[in-house]
Parts: sequence; structure tokens; C-alpha cells
Amino acid sequence: NGDWRFELASRPEAVPADFVATAFDDTNWASLPVPSNWTMHGYDRPHYTNVQMPFAGNPPDVPAENPTGLYRTQFEVPKAWAGRRIVLQVGGAESVLYVWVNGRPVGMGKDARLPHEFDVTEFVTPGETALLACAVVKWSDASYIEDQDQWWMGGLHRGVYLYATPKTHIADVFALAGLDEDQSTGHLKVTATLGFSGPAQDGYGVEVQIFDAKGKALLASPLGGAVKASAENYSPYRGPLGVRAFEATLPAIAPWSSESPTLYTVVVSLRGQDNGLVETTSTRVGFRSVVMGDRELLINGQAVMIKGMNRHEHHPARGKAITRDDMIADIHLMKQFNVNAVRTSHYPNAEDWYDLCDEYGLYLIDEANLESHAFLHTVCRDPRYAAQFVERGLRMVERDKNHPSVIIWSLGNESGYGPNHDAMAGWIRHFDPSRPLHYEGAIWGWDDAGDQTHLIRGNVSAPANRLRGMRASDLNCPMYPEIAALVAWSKANDPSDRRPMILCEYSHAMGNSNGSLSDYWDAFESHPGLQGGFIWEWCDHALVQTLADGTTRLAYGGDFGDKPNDLNFCCDGIVSADRVPHSGLWEFKVLAQPVSVSWVKPGWLAIKNKRDFTSLSDLAGHWVLEIDGKEVARGILPPLTAEPGKVQVVEPALPNLTRGQDQAAFLMLRFSQVDSTPYAPSGHEVAWVQLAVDLPVEPERPVAAKLQPQAVRVSEDPVRIDLTGENFALGFDRATGRLENLTRSGKVVLLAGPRLQIWRGATDNDGIKGWSGQDDKPLGRWLKAGVNAPSFQTPTVSVERSGEYVAVHVVQVVDCAGGSLTHSHSYRVAPSGLIMVENQFDVPIEDLPRLGITMSVPNDFGALEWFGRGPGETYSDRKAAGWIGRFASTVTDQYVDHVLPQEHGNKTNLAWMRLASPSAEIRFKLAAPAEGSATRYTPDVLYAARHRSDLTPTSHVIVNLDVGQRGLGTASCGPDTLERYRLKSGVYRLGFEIG
Ligand code: GAL
Ligand code: MG
Repeated sequence: NGDWRFELASRPEAVPADFVATAFDDTNWASLPVPSNWTMHGYDRPHYTNVQMPFAGNPPDVPAENPTGLYRTQFEVPKAWAGRRIVLQVGGAESVLYVWVNGRPVGMGKDARLPHEFDVTEFVTPGETALLACAVVKWSDASYIEDQDQWWMGGLHRGVYLYATPKTHIADVFALAGLDEDQSTGHLKVTATLGFSGPAQDGYGVEVQIFDAKGKALLASPLGGAVKASAENYSPYRGPLGVRAFEATLPAIAPWSSESPTLYTVVVSLRGQDNGLVETTSTRVGFRSVVMGDRELLINGQAVMIKGMNRHEHHPARGKAITRDDMIADIHLMKQFNVNAVRTSHYPNAEDWYDLCDEYGLYLIDEANLESHAFLHTVCRDPRYAAQFVERGLRMVERDKNHPSVIIWSLGNESGYGPNHDAMAGWIRHFDPSRPLHYEGAIWGWDDAGDQTHLIRGNVSAPANRLRGMRASDLNCPMYPEIAALVAWSKANDPSDRRPMILCEYSHAMGNSNGSLSDYWDAFESHPGLQGGFIWEWCDHALVQTLADGTTRLAYGGDFGDKPNDLNFCCDGIVSADRVPHSGLWEFKVLAQPVSVSWVKPGWLAIKNKRDFTSLSDLAGHWVLEIDGKEVARGILPPLTAEPGKVQVVEPALPNLTRGQDQAAFLMLRFSQVDSTPYAPSGHEVAWVQLAVDLPVEPERPVAAKLQPQAVRVSEDPVRIDLTGENFALGFDRATGRLENLTRSGKVVLLAGPRLQIWRGATDNDGIKGWSGQDDKPLGRWLKAGVNAPSFQTPTVSVERSGEYVAVHVVQVVDCAGGSLTHSHSYRVAPSGLIMVENQFDVPIEDLPRLGITMSVPNDFGALEWFGRGPGETYSDRKAAGWIGRFASTVTDQYVDHVLPQEHGNKTNLAWMRLASPSAEIRFKLAAPAEGSATRYTPDVLYAARHRSDLTPTSHVIVNLDVGQRGLGTASCGPDTLERYRLKSGVYRLGFEIG
């Protein structure tokens, strides 16, 4: 690794023929770090496409313009390596790699996400410097099977290193560590394969020992024996040569699981003809079993709920060149957020990743680097690609087979289903029967109750599909299914298909998203056969881009002039590219938490341990009782003792209290780590549960007699209506119907009062605003119905006096192409200046983005308090991460960043909101809990923005109060917002008090 000499040729034909020669003069070449992507260093450009190929043509054609990176570096070969076998590993090259050493061709390789190894013994001289030259060609026949939804990059993005072994060496160790049904007897099977530089020889033997984490040997004496290797002495008809397998049964081992990832170390030694030690090598193992049960995937005998993420390798500045620290940061964050599984979408990851997942405890679906999305039904049937299919699966399995974290092999992604898949599946099944297979393309038709018409897509009838893809997939693993379809599948309980349902992708996290995640989880937890799945996806693939003026921004498809592209469809992570959790991750954390609590009877709580293998004794619980959002008592819970799947009943000493008439009482229970773990400090909160408490209501206290108030004064002219009282003033504009300039004690507290608002700054799930062809999406319908640009008719405004109160009635018709809404609002103004606002909305249009009113208060009203769900944003279909209480924040902090700006910051179960400047305040108290937000961005500004830099804040603070907003759903890729979270036509009311 390090700085290498680099030059980019426009195509392989333009490469100087002698660039590989030692004598070649590269002094004019630039320098480029290895590992890196050249596309992130000013060469060529990152290019983002989803399904479509970035160039025209048919497999296996490549475009003439084909960026080709030329690399040169020198390395020292240690003198001590004389007589040894010397191997060069190139960890990853996108895409085709050619290698020369000292001017001589060494080899080439394909598969951008697996390492390439070359025996360079004959090409170098120990004690001397050698020249390594590489050419990396961007496009090839293999590009058609590397058509994943991600940036096309280029270069040597993983590390390059040398190692040396004896000439006769341990070429491979396959260590399978299984677990008996008693969950404590381990089975170890170790297969060692010898490698010879030259003809295979007899006289070698291998030894195997296994150690625990403290270094204690588990076997009283090592297993060992001679290896038959030479065909001169043993007939290869009788069995494989050069291989020796050993088995041992080990009592009382500690199993490996994501909750308790205990590792052991297997050491394999090679002994030579004189019984001298030639070489030792080791691999870590974890004892665990992965077995297909009846509609269950059993890990160590348990149907573990898969709380998974799809993770791409991505760094906002380095692209595919991620570091071990990047991986550790992801794992810490995942473990802190209760993630237990990762699908390595859509390719084998850098090797460190698997070691880390073994150590930290994450279940992996390891996926082959194979996606032919643009030629979905073609390449999988193309005999010319069959060998590449097999090889991609085989090489992944060979590399990763010893990792306990890998529980499932995946044949790839979105490549249809054809004989090439079955060939690959056959090889893997035979080689490693210990792990099930996953392949989504094979199970199309899962929701057809056996009718396979779905599978005849692309005009290809496939008799093999009558097996429902069972040859290639042991899981029902669809992407983006509807909840109702999952429930129907569970209920159908088909006797001919007992595979579990584990969603390979669901809850598309693009922008403000993950609507109905809790509805998915309800289904997972209550319907047999449903066993969780993997959210799409872990992180946004945004890239840091430096603009001409030196500023930087987060970029997406098209920002680099890359054409064709799929815009911001690469920004669909549950964390941002720089790993800031989006709201969906907080939602996930709560749903995936290992503790649930419910009332057994008043005062008594049932605490359930939702883990599979470990108790809750590592957690400490405490409770806080709140009335009206204020803490009134707190205490600690007794030590948590529930075993996995079991319940502990506790009686916290709650005081006997009463609550006021409109006051809610809640018990908040919080559970946090007693000690630090490798991924989180002690005190890290793992779970919380908020429960309503049934407290007796206090009798109403008699109200002291008030002084006779002064009446509200009214002055009217054809343009305005002005109302004044002792301490306040406000006006109504007859043309707009808007309340204006409410002042209290001479200070403006409200610039403009209610005005109908039905538009929101479309989310990606409403429709991807930069894309054409979104007409069938909600956004398309709204634009067609003119919801974004309603026209406000001149209202009728009337004044009514009753006693010391004055009421102003405004009736305003608002026209859209889709129909006319009527907004009737009344203001009952008391002499104290208190204003009761009643809104009625007559809505003839179905399924609006939002229904409510917007107001504005002065810009310095930046302090925000509310009672409702918080502390983060919540929506009707994504509110599990919000508890109900009193929260303090600022308007500025309501901003939620997305690469593509969009609607954000909503609050549900909102009872009141207070905005304040250092010297004044205004309160909005809702008659019944509703929704709302405070922001400096209008829906129009959000909608128009393509990057964060396009956002201009208003010069005032916007306060929105809503009957509701449409739920978020996940329609950017997957089911739209469920019916019950949509706004139907009808008559709605929204009442509140301005105090
Ligand atoms: C899936 C695909 C992913 C990604 C996702 C949409 O169809 O497997 O790679 O494209 O959709 O973001
Ligand atoms: Mg795809």
C-alpha cells in the first residue's frame, strides 16, 4: 500500500506497451494512494446508475472508451524469504486486473469484490527490489454481472500485500464448528489441504489443536496424522490426495451467537519429513448451528428474529476504499441500535469485515458479487456466463467459510433465475452443507400461492420454477412485500413450502422514510413463519464533491456530469453517508429492543426478555413517573433476571398520586448497560418503554371570581378589522382573511395567523421529484390536482359581538385543479387577549399530503417547547421512537438533514407548542391532540431544493398545525403509505387556543 505511480489511459488500446518494463520512465506520472478509487481523486468520474447499464450495448460488449488505470510501484523482497513461496494479494480491483512483476506478465483476474492472489516466487529475487505494474480496466464482460445499484468507481480499492510460506505449505483450512442440540457439545471438523510448489510429496503430516480465548487447549493431545499426497504412492481413485480431515467432539463449549460471540482458535501445524515444524496457521471458529426448521431458520435451536440491515461498502470521501476503522464504526452503531444481522449487499466485503462480525456478533448473509439487473432474464441463462456464476459463488465460499458470522450464502442479487444460478447453488450446497442458501430471484411467485405466472417474466417459461426455486433458495426472501401479503402467506401455511420468510429487503430508507416499520414488526412478531428481514439500506451513498468555488457538498447521481444516472436514488440509507442516524434508525432501535414491558395489574409490571440466548442481567432498569410531562417520582427496578424468552414480574414502588383533569400520566422505563461492551460505554441505553398510568383524577377546584373585564374594542373599515384590548391588539385583512400582527404588551407575537396549508415539501416516498414518470406516485397526483399551487379566493369576513367577547368569522374557498376546499375559521377573542380558533375544512380531494394551517411568528422566536411525541420527528406511521412528554428545543434544531431536502420535523400527539424570544412568547394549545411543526422552510422552498445549499430560510418562524399529514410509507421502492395513514375526503376540525 502507499503512494504509487499512476496514469489513466482512455482505453486499453491507449496503454503504452512498455509501461510494465522496469526501465520505463514514470517520473512524469502522478502519484495515487493505494488503496483508493481513482474516481475519488479527480480521474474519470464516479457514475451512478441503478438498473440501467452506464453504457449502451449487449453482453458481453464493452464501450470503446474504457478508462484504464496504470499503476507502478517498487517493493523490497526480504532476503529471509529466499527459498520460500512468495504470494502477492491484490485485495480488490474495479474491475479487471492485470499484473506484471519485473516486466513479466503474472496473471489477471475478475470480480471487483474478491481478492486476487498470484504466486510470484519465480518473478522476484529475495533481497532485491521488484517492480509491480498493474492495469485496471473499468469495463468488461463482467460489468454486466456487476450491475448493482451503486456508484461505478475504478481502481485498486482494497489493500495490496505480499506474504511468504514454505514451499510445501498449508494451502487451505476448512474448519466447521457445529453445535449439538444440547447447545453445549461442539463438533469440530477441520480439513487441511497441503500445497506444493512442484510435485506433491509424501512424508508430511498435519496437527490440529483448538484453544479457548484464554489460550487453554481443548484437546488433551492434538489431532494429527500423515497426509497422503503423491499419486505415485496412493491411487487418486481411492480418495483425494493432499487433504486430511479431523473430527472432534468437545463437551461444554460456549456457543457463538450475535448475543454472545464466543470465539475459539484452531491451530493447524504442518510437520515435515523429519517431523520438524514447517508451518503453522490458525483460524478462529465459533460453535453454532444453522438449521432449517418448520418455517423457521434456527440458530442454535432458536428461531432468531432477524433484525437486519443491508450494508454496502461506502465512504463519502473515499468511495469503496473503506478502512477497518470505518467498519468498526458501522458495527458499533449497528450494535448500539440493536441490529443483529447484515446482508453484505451485494458482494463479498473486505476481509476485515468478517473478522469483526465474528468478534462483535453479527449474523451475515454473505452475498456473491453478481447482479445482472439490466439483463435480468438473459445473463442467468447465457452459457457464456455460467462459469463466472459458479466461480463468483465458489471463491466467496472458499474465502469466508470459516467465519461463524456467516450463517447464509447468497447467490447474488437481481439477476433473474436461470441454470447459471442452479450451477452455482449446486457447487455451494455440496461443498458446504452447513449453511442454507439465499436467492431472491428464485422465489418469485411466493405470493401467488403456487401460481407461478409471475415467474414467466421476460417471456421465459421456466419449468424449474415449479420447485419454487428451492434448488437455489432455502428461504422465502422477497424484497419490499406488502404486510398484508406476508400475513396472507403465513395464514395459508402451505404444506408444500416450509421455508421461513426472511425479507432480503424491506422498508426502503430513502429520505424521510420507514413508514409502517412498526406494522412490519407487529406482523413479524405475531405471525408464524415471518422472521424479520433486512432494511434497505444502511447508509446513503452520497459523495463529497468539491465545487468550482472550493466549497463542498454531498453529491448524488448526475452531480458529476455522469449520464445516464438515477439521481438521488443512491441516497436511501437509514444513516447518512457520514453515519448520522436518520429518524428511521431510532424507530428501528425501539422495535428491535430486547425488552418489552406491560402492566400485569395496577402497580405490577411484566418485564419480558426478548433475547434468544442471554439473560437481561447485563442491564439496569429505572423508572420515572411523569404527570403532565413533569417528573413526580422515580426509582430503580430490581435486578433483571429473566432468562431468554421469559418474563419477570416486578412491583415498582409507585407513589399514590392523582392527576389533573387534562393531565396525562406516564411511566417511563429505561434499560441501560451496567458495564461497557466492546461497542458501547456503560450506561448506554438499550431499551425504553413508556406506559400510560391510570391515576385518579383530582376533583376540580373552584375558580376564584374574576374581575369584570373590559370589553374587546372593534374598529372596521373596508380593508381591515382591528381588535384591541387592554393589553393586546390584532387585525384581520379582509382580502386574505388572515389575522395579522397580534401584539401583546406592545410586542409582536404573531405576524400572520392561520391560512390553509395542504402541501408539503414532497418526501422521496411521495415521489422522486427529479424523476419523470412519477405520475402514478402521490406526488404526481398532487401536482396534477394542483395541490402545490392552490388559489385562495377572497374570503367573506364577518364580525360578531357577544358580551365582552368578539368573534371574527372567515370563510374562504381554496381552489385546486382537483376540487375546491372550504376553510371556515372563527376567532373568539377574549378581553384578556386569549384567542380561541376553530377551523373547519371541507375537503373534496382524497389523499392530500397534509391538512392544516400555517402561521408565522417573529424570527427571534427561536426557542421551542411542546407537549407531544418527541424528542425527534414523528409521523402517523412512524412514531414508535417518540415518547409522549414535554420537550424543549429550538426551531433551528427542527431541521432534519437529507441529501435531497424534503419535508421533515413533524410532531404527532401534539397537545401544545410554545415559541419564545428572549422577551416574549406565544402558545398554541390544541383542543385535541393533533400534529404540527415549527420550521424556517416552506413546503415550496423544500420542494424546489435539489441540494441543501438551495435552502433559504424564511425571515420568520413558521408554525404549522395540522389535522394530520399523510403517513410516510416507503413508496420510493415498496408499498405506499397504508390506507389508514392517508387523509380521506370529508369534513375535519382543528381547534386551538392562542395564548
Ligand atoms: C432493490 C435492490 C437494491 C436497491 C433497492 C432500491 O431492488 O436489490 O440494490 O436497488 O432495490 O434502493
Ligand atoms: Mg438492482
